[in-house]
Amino acid sequence: MQRHPGSLLKELDLDKKELLALLELAGELKRATAEGTEKPQLTGRNLALIFEKASTRTLCAFEVAAYDQGAHITYLGPSGSHIGVAESIADTARVLGRMFDGIEFRGFDQAAAEQLADYAGVPVWNGLTTQWHPTQMLADILTMTEHSSGPLEDVSYCFLGDGRNNVARSLLITGAILGMDVRIGAPRELWPPQDVIDTAHTLAAESGARVLITDDPAKAVAGSDFLYTDVWVSMGESDADWAVRVPLLLPFRVTTDLMAASGRTGTKFMHCLPALHDTDTELGRRLHDQFGLDGAEVSNDVFESEASIVFDQAENRLHTIKAVLVNALGQGR
Ligand code: CP
Ligand code: NVA
Repeated sequence: MQRHPGSLLKELDLDKKELLALLELAGELKRATAEGTEKPQLTGRNLALIFEKASTRTLCAFEVAAYDQGAHITYLGPSGSHIGVAESIADTARVLGRMFDGIEFRGFDQAAAEQLADYAGVPVWNGLTTQWHPTQMLADILTMTEHSSGPLEDVSYCFLGDGRNNVARSLLITGAILGMDVRIGAPRELWPPQDVIDTAHTLAAESGARVLITDDPAKAVAGSDFLYTDVWVSMGESDADWAVRVPLLLPFRVTTDLMAASGRTGTKFMHCLPALHDTDTELGRRLHDQFGLDGAEVSNDVFESEASIVFDQAENRLHTIKAVLVNALGQGR
């Protein structure tokens, strides 16, 4: 079956113009919400939200966006449906495609999201896979534009942490498409896969993006407007990975010193969340007991500082996901 053009599976499926159009729509929808002039464009639509992994922001953003726009949602969690247990993705897609107007999918392998789109006949939106996190990127770039004065192409951002993970890969590719200055600071063992790096360089040659992958944290952040980090061990990885990652990633932890090493006065801190920045969580306490850490990828003082724009990012998940839904299914579009 033909993939629905309103699908969003990974950033690579979009060109710069399409990405910018989604961001512009998100901005319009955000303004309409603030002014109380939002017009429902999804009245009577039914959306399936599949979550094979935990979520706070993505789930809530899809739900609230759907309700604000007049759509109904059905939540399919990690257990309780037949998906992947007694029914294949291809069969599930064909069933859901007969009942729903669109499907959100958060899961493990990107191939599952792509297969859903191949068989469903309705738009499929990737709400995070092990490889990519495209809806997060829309929120992040919108947030960067809100906190920058010049053109997007002049913006420089640096991801520090596990460079192989979904957020790092997505940031690298998104910046390369948009012609931005994008850096990854990570130990060599945790650099993005070579094919993703190669793709970023190819895109950069066309877009004018500047791409830097380095294992030197100071070099990575020098001149950056935004320092971005993410959990050191992602969902679906082994708990045992912490013992390997902590020593590898400690030099890349975002601290006030690393923020200062950007050399800019207005450098902002970004994180897709959830963040480990203190011992107020079960995992935070465990890391404290095991490694003597008070938080992991970011220090609490940076997380709580004026420079931290993480909750702007979180809010923008709503407006940007709403744009994805309206773009795909909005009445009159
Ligand atoms: N940033 C993000 O995707 O958050 P959730 O895991 O809470 O959806
Ligand atoms: N890299 C993280 C992102 C969470 C939003 C994960 O996949 O767990």
